[in-house]
Amino acid sequence: MGGLFSFAGPSRLARITPIFAGLGRPAAPPDRREESLFHWRTSLRLSVVKISLAGENSPAMALPDFVVVILAAGKSTRLRSNLTKVLHRVGGHPLVEHVARACRPLGARALLVVVGHQSSEVAAAVAPLGARAVLQQPQRGTGHALVVARKAIGGRAKYALVVPGDAPLVRTETLRSLARAHQTGQAAATVLSAQLADPTGYGRILRSQDGRVAAIVEQSALTEDQRGINEINSSIYCFTLAKLWPCLAQLRPANVHRELYLTDVIALLSQQGETVLAQVAADPQEVLGCNTRAELSEVDRTFRQRKRDALMEAGVSILLPETVLIDPEVEVGADTVLEPCIQLLGKTRIGRGCTIRTGSVLRDTLLGDAVIVEPHCVVVSSRLGNGAMIGPFARLRPQAELRAGARVGNFVEVKKTVLAEGAKAMHLSYLGDARIGAHTNIGAGTITCNYDGTRKHPTTIGKRVFIGSDTALVAPVRVGDGAYIAAGSTITDNVPPGALGIARGRQVNKPGWVAARRREAAAAHSARPASKRASRKKPRPKPRRKAAAARKRRNPSRRRR
Ligand code: UD1
Ligand code: CA
Repeated sequence: MGGLFSFAGPSRLARITPIFAGLGRPAAPPDRREESLFHWRTSLRLSVVKISLAGENSPAMALPDFVVVILAAGKSTRLRSNLTKVLHRVGGHPLVEHVARACRPLGARALLVVVGHQSSEVAAAVAPLGARAVLQQPQRGTGHALVVARKAIGGRAKYALVVPGDAPLVRTETLRSLARAHQTGQAAATVLSAQLADPTGYGRILRSQDGRVAAIVEQSALTEDQRGINEINSSIYCFTLAKLWPCLAQLRPANVHRELYLTDVIALLSQQGETVLAQVAADPQEVLGCNTRAELSEVDRTFRQRKRDALMEAGVSILLPETVLIDPEVEVGADTVLEPCIQLLGKTRIGRGCTIRTGSVLRDTLLGDAVIVEPHCVVVSSRLGNGAMIGPFARLRPQAELRAGARVGNFVEVKKTVLAEGAKAMHLSYLGDARIGAHTNIGAGTITCNYDGTRKHPTTIGKRVFIGSDTALVAPVRVGDGAYIAAGSTITDNVPPGALGIARGRQVNKPGWVAARRREAAAAHSARPASKRASRKKPRPKPRRKAAAARKRRNPSRRRR
């Protein structure tokens, strides 16, 4: 099984990151004591590490003066959904989780998420990423969300980086560069803007004659000539908190939704002569918000494409890539070929030189190297060792394990079962709660009868066993090494090593039986009087009432034909 785990895990940098991110401020996860100890010890060696590991998440790049606030309390009116918007999934994660993942490596002093609708579910989605929830109840707008967050932000942070929970494509680097621009520009507010070909639905950036940001105008409040503006507000901003708080107090719900809009802060700051900057996103796709189902699917498409591009870059072949759906945490080794119309989901890890053929779906499954998955297999929470082969049309349910070179063929279902090295079950079988020894052959149509109606029972089959076709193994039962089972057997007792188990009715052949029967039938026919023979063509008379009543008494449930 070594090969199963031979492919690279998370990169060294990725594994080390949480510890070093913690040196900036928000410590490594507090429940991981070992890591914190390590953190203390390593802090002494920090200067050395800084040089060798100065990557995007190193403490040198942390933002200790910043608090990140993710706005995720709103409802999903435009999605027409019972599920709150930020919990809708794109690219394999809820929207808000993508946002938190992008924010976490910034190394801000705190990561807050403002929750309201389905608050506990939203909080739970981002808690593993170190986000602390702040409850906004009721939700009176994006400006009100920050009023509510004020206490949690506290007095120590200088700046807030505000990110909406529905902009899942945003990248860490873009957020970091916005924060840097805000600091170096000594601005009161810096807005991340974008130029969109179709800006409909977004707030627009209004600039004054000298190009400075004067205000943000929501779609519903646009004048006729403002509709042409295609620089939009992404809802991602940096604020200098000392300047923000007084403006929030001045917000009024003077809009169609009777809400306090955070966007109105921009005009207030600008009117007070404060510096308000806008940084235009290099890639406008990054700031797309998801207000409609169509936008959700567009964003999902972008995520999937990013993932496929990254895998192809790393040496994976993907045929008709736009038909292949791969979740973000999936790993695939080089020289593996992914055929059209497959799905690789959850934490699936695939080794090198594998082939996953069309129509197959793999979830949370580990594949070693050189594994072949023939078309239309469904595999969940299973492991396939080096050189294993399955399908076409195989179904592997949780805890199926095929060790090196094991094979499972068409219409075979495997559950909580180990097939050791080189074992085979090629046709039409159900193998549940079983252990199958190395190089054992399971014949077509073999069934492990593992369920007695109340409990599951194990079947244990040794090495180099031959199970004949159409065998029923009534568990609990054991078949010893090297044993043979005769085809068509119903095995209820253990079979010792090297024995033949045979459990079926004995066959009787009756020579000439068919011809004799035909002769008898012909003789009976010609012995009948001619009148009777002719009357056969007439419709049969209905059974007399008495006879019918008697039949019903004998067999009340039987319906008349
Ligand atoms: C907002 C901006 C708009 C911008 C667009 C970008 C405002 C008034 N408008 O509009 O200028 O172009 O984002 O996508 O800000 N939320 C709360 N509490 C609330 C209301 C909303 O936490 O009381 C959260 C929502 O859950 C959401 C985020 O804030 O994650 C943005 O709200 P949303 O309703 O999507 O704003 P938009 O109408 O898209
Ligand atoms: Ca939005």
